[in-house]
Amino acid sequence: MAEPRISSIDGKLAEEFAVPSHVEEVKEKMSAFAAHHAAAGRRVVLITSGGTKVPLESRTVRFLDNFSSGRRGACSAEYFLDSGYAVIFLHRHRSLYPYTRTFSTINVLDALQFRCGEGASDNSGEVVVNQQVLPNITKVLKRYQEVRDSRLLLPIEFSTLSEYLHLLKAAAQALSTIGSKAMFYLAAAVSDFYIPASEMPEHKIQSSNGPLQLSLNMVPKILSPLVKDWAPQAFVISFKLETDAAILLDKARRALDTYRHQVVVANVLDSRRGYVVVVTPSTQAELILTEEDVKNEVEIEERIVSNLTSAHNKFITQQAG
Ligand code: PMT
Repeated sequence: MAEPRISSIDGKLAEEFAVPSHVEEVKEKMSAFAAHHAAAGRRVVLITSGGTKVPLESRTVRFLDNFSSGRRGACSAEYFLDSGYAVIFLHRHRSLYPYTRTFSTINVLDALQFRCGEGASDNSGEVVVNQQVLPNITKVLKRYQEVRDSRLLLPIEFSTLSEYLHLLKAAAQALSTIGSKAMFYLAAAVSDFYIPASEMPEHKIQSSNGPLQLSLNMVPKILSPLVKDWAPQAFVISFKLETDAAILLDKARRALDTYRHQVVVANVLDSRRGYVVVVTPSTQAELILTEEDVKNEVEIEERIVSNLTSAHNKFITQQAG
């Protein structure tokens, strides 16, 4: 019998990126989640969010980080949930999280008030929420509880690049069972450079050895096996981040040509909260927030998700036809 084809990226992943010990357990959880929601007629989106960390030592003291607050992913997760999707939220540990992101700048102790019980001298009494500090808490808490009680959100955490790559592969394989009902929304900021496990020093690099020169390898582009091998029927959206607006659309088009997936959402670092371009092989749509939108606290993710859920509808219809 012929051996199954193993892409060179699969081989590299296994050899050079430490496999997280819980990857099989997480994969089973994701498969069960996808099967359950697909059977209930729901679509499932995998959102990646936050930046990956590349350690410089195996007992890590120092690391390189990719910038991302996780706001795009966390915010989009809420709009996908509002649109009826079940969401797997593959996010960087401690980056912004759906619903709690609204309160990320608030010190929890400032939001609470302790009221002493009558005649009480010590710790007896009650803790109440200060509505002035948390004006929207009721609305957000109600929605959060609905989502939690109906198990529509499956959070999975990563910190390092290795964890991200292996967990994304596991997610892609888990979601491949639901075909075109699966969407991948790859908003995480993923490192392009890494130090292979075999070349990484074990202990803390000593400054007494003088200036540090690093030589980093290129990270394999994971989008390629994801689209070709792991989840070939899924609807896949990648993000393209640049700091130079002049090269953005060209890079987005090149990504579509290279990976043959469905959509690139292109954004520039400084304007990413108010302007993105949704690029497909045959269309290009600018999504812009006006001053009025900003005043009314409209979020660009609402527009992005609305655009993409419509495109996903069409994709599913085409695949079925
Ligand atoms: O989190 P915020 O602060 O709100 O910011 C949001 C954001 C700017 C991080 C987000 O909108 C965004 O643009 N994310 C993608 C940033 C990025 O890393 O772009 P890239 O050019 O490095 O990668 C492009 C695509 O290739 C990504 O979808 C990535 O999933 C994919 N990729 C990247 C590296 C790699 N080795 N393999 C990949 O497949």
